[in-house]
Amino acid sequence: TYVIAEPCIDVKDKACIEECPVDCIYEGPRSLYINPDECVDCGACEPVCPVEAIFLEEDLPYEWTAFAKANAEVFDTAPGGAAQHGPLDRDHPLIAQRGKTGA
Ligand code: F3S
Ligand code: F3S
Repeated sequence: TYVIAEPCIDVKDKACIEECPVDCIYEGPRSLYINPDECVDCGACEPVCPVEAIFLEEDLPYEWTAFAKANAEVFDTAPGGAAQHGPLDRDHPLIAQRGKTGA
């Protein structure tokens, strides 16, 4: 799966959403999240993020490996499509507690 990491926090450019063919990128209050059960690893989102927040899980920089867990854990159930689901009402605790990046 692909994972959204720290650079997205408080930036939320959302260019990635437009690219995803399966609508599996969900918006939280401070960051977006890729649902690992729905991502088909097409990779289309990765190059369009202006702050390079998106990584293949295996390629996550060491300091951001916890974001793979955060992207997965923020979903209680398989939401079934971001457009229909609407924004998530909370961030994963890892993201919620993160210091402001000043972006
Ligand atoms: Fe975030 Fe980059 Fe998407 S900033 S919303 S991961 S385009
Ligand atoms: Fe969508 Fe990116 Fe996965 S475009 S299918 S979230 S690799």
